[in-house]
Amino acid sequence: MLKIRGLGMAFGRGGRTVQALDGIDLDVDEGEFLCLVGPSGCGKTTLLRIVQGLVEPSAGRVEVFGHAVTGPTSDCGFVFQQDNLYPWRTVLGNVAFGLQLAGWEAGKAATRAREMIALVGLEGYEESLPVELSGGMRQRVNLARALAPDPKVLLMDEPFAALDALTRESMQRELLRIWQGSGKTVLFVTHQIDEAVVLADRVAVLSSRPGRLSGMFEIAINKDRDTAGDVKRTPEFHAAIDAIRDRIEPGSNGNPLRD
Ligand SMILES: Nc1ncnc2c1ncn2[C@@H]1O[C@H](COP(=O)(O)OP(=O)(O)O)[C@@H](O)[C@H]1O
Ligand SMILES: [Mg+2]
Repeated sequence: MLKIRGLGMAFGRGGRTVQALDGIDLDVDEGEFLCLVGPSGCGKTTLLRIVQGLVEPSAGRVEVFGHAVTGPTSDCGFVFQQDNLYPWRTVLGNVAFGLQLAGWEAGKAATRAREMIALVGLEGYEESLPVELSGGMRQRVNLARALAPDPKVLLMDEPFAALDALTRESMQRELLRIWQGSGKTVLFVTHQIDEAVVLADRVAVLSSRPGRLSGMFEIAINKDRDTAGDVKRTPEFHAAIDAIRDRIEPGSNGNPLRD
């Protein structure tokens, strides 16, 4: 589904170059949920922007469904940490807007937008403005907007990082529920190891700059994730976190990825 080969990215800065990514090879299977964890500044956002077609890599290539990525397409939906909603548009207007830009007829766009709003649990809030919603609700709108064009791949860049712990947990459950029924391929970036273990089929670890793939972990626990909250109480959950943490920073305590 998603194929990354020899990916490298160097940014030039005042005569100096910053090597953000180096030699990344990564395959994400159709329908797979892959989390990418790594320290701040290691190139996670850059990698997602390259996959999305917003940034041209300085080395290597990316293919989505066998097609080389040369620019943004409707194959990939994107959810950022910031919600980026238009403050003057209603929830419905925000979700439908991208569809209309993509050429959908207004009535069809509105119908599709209503379905997506219901899917993310916001039925009844169609006419609300973003300012009237909580942070968690705004991220639901953001998710609805990304899902509306039915992308094959969902790219998520620390989408829950700004939310409080309880809201984040409920968003993780919601995302798993939506993903499980969808068959979508998800590439999800986080610097929180526990979030990666709760969500992912596999966790890829990026080293600090230049970002290189330094580990890959199969998360074989919690295949039935209806009970994502209970998973956190199992020894397997904590063993997986410890293994990933050891790969990032051997022998460390606490979360080595915290800024
Ligand atoms: N447009 C840019 N121009 C110059 N440097 C950049 C640009 N985007 C990112 N970088 C640099 O590349 C590195 C990786 O950034 P980023 O992908 O945002 O990391 P992460 O998302 O893992 O925190 C950082 O050192 C950052 O300063
Ligand atoms: Mg980032």
